Amino acid sequence: MTLHDAPDLKSFLNLAELEDAARAQLAPTTLSYYDGGANDELTVQANRGSYARLALLPRVLVDISEIDLTTSLLGTPLKLPIGIAPSALHGLAHPDAECATARAAASLGSVMTLSTLSNSTIEQVGEAAPGSWWFQLYLYRDREVSRALVQRAEAAGASALVLTVDAAYLGRRERLKRLPMVVPDTLALPNIGGAHPHPLDYFVSLLDTTLSWKDLAWLRGLTRLPIILKGILTPEDAVLAAEHGCHVWVSNHGGRQLDTAVTAIEMLPEISAAVNRRCEIYLDGGVTRGTDVLKALALGADAVFLGRAALWGLAVAGEAGVAHTLQLLADELRLAMALCGKTCLAQLGPELVRSP
Ligand code: LAC
Repeated sequence: MTLHDAPDLKSFLNLAELEDAARAQLAPTTLSYYDGGANDELTVQANRGSYARLALLPRVLVDISEIDLTTSLLGTPLKLPIGIAPSALHGLAHPDAECATARAAASLGSVMTLSTLSNSTIEQVGEAAPGSWWFQLYLYRDREVSRALVQRAEAAGASALVLTVDAAYLGRRERLKRLPMVVPDTLALPNIGGAHPHPLDYFVSLLDTTLSWKDLAWLRGLTRLPIILKGILTPEDAVLAAEHGCHVWVSNHGGRQLDTAVTAIEMLPEISAAVNRRCEIYLDGGVTRGTDVLKALALGADAVFLGRAALWGLAVAGEAGVAHTLQLLADELRLAMALCGKTCLAQLGPELVRSP
C-alpha cells in the first residue's frame, strides 16, 4: 500500500495496529520527529506501560443496557471524553493536515487542540471544525507575536487556549539530532511566519525562557477564553494553576521534554485531590486503550487527549483514520464501562482502580 491509498479501516482492530501501519508508511525523518523522546526515552516507555500496572475492580449485577459517554468540558457538551492533544506538523502525516484532524474530532463530537506549529492555518481549522477546537500556544519574548496569535484564534472561533508550560527549552532529542526531520517548503508553519529551513530551531528562538506565574495575568487580560496550562505534573503546580484561574492539563509532553519525569496517570490521584474540583483536569500520555481512558477518568481526569495516536490514524487514512482512532477508543471505553458496571461518566471514581 502506498501513502494515502484508502485502506479498509475496519481491518484495524486497535490503536496498536494503526500505529504499526503508520510506521510502515511514514518517512523515517518524520518518524524521528513524531516518535522521538528526550535522552534515553525512559519517560516515553513509562507512558506506554503506565496503565498496565493499574488493575480494574469491576462491579456486577448492574443494568448496563445503556452506556452514556457524553460529557461537558468548559461548559461545551461533548459526545465522548476523548480529545486530540496538540502536536506539530500534521502535514508530514497527511496533505489535509490539521484540517483533517479537526474535522475527524468534530464528526465524533470530540475536541481537537490545534498546535501553534500547525501546517493548516488557524482560520482554515476554524472553518473546518466550528466550535470543536482549542488553540495551543506558547508565550514568546515578543509578546506582540503571542497577542496576534491569541486574537486570531479567538476571531476564528477557538473555545479555549492551551498554554504549554513545560517547553521553554526543547528536551534533548537525540534521535532527532541523528536523523533530523525534513520539512518541505510547501509545509510552511503559517502561524509563526511561514517557511523556514529549520522550523524548530526558529521556533525555539522565539520562546520566552523567563516565563513565570506572574506572566499569566498578561494572557488573562488579553482574552475571555478559558486558559488551560499544559504540562503540569505536581499537585503544587496544579493548585497554583487553579488559583490563577486556569485549568490543568497533566502531561509530560509525551516524554519529549524531561526524561525520567513522572507519568501523568501516576500523579493524577494526588493532583485531583489537591485541586478538589476547583478547575477541570485533563491528561495525555500513553493512552491506547479504552481501559486506559477509563482509569484516567476514574482517577480524576475530566477527559483524556491523544497525541501520537492521532498522528498514526492521520497517516493511515487522513480524516477517516483519525475518526477511526477515536471511534475505536470510544467503543472500547463503552465496553469497559459496561463490564465494570458503570453506565455514565459521573459514576467513575477511584474505587474502580487498584494501584500496585
Ligand atoms: C515538540 C514541541 C514543539 O514536542 O511541542 O516537538
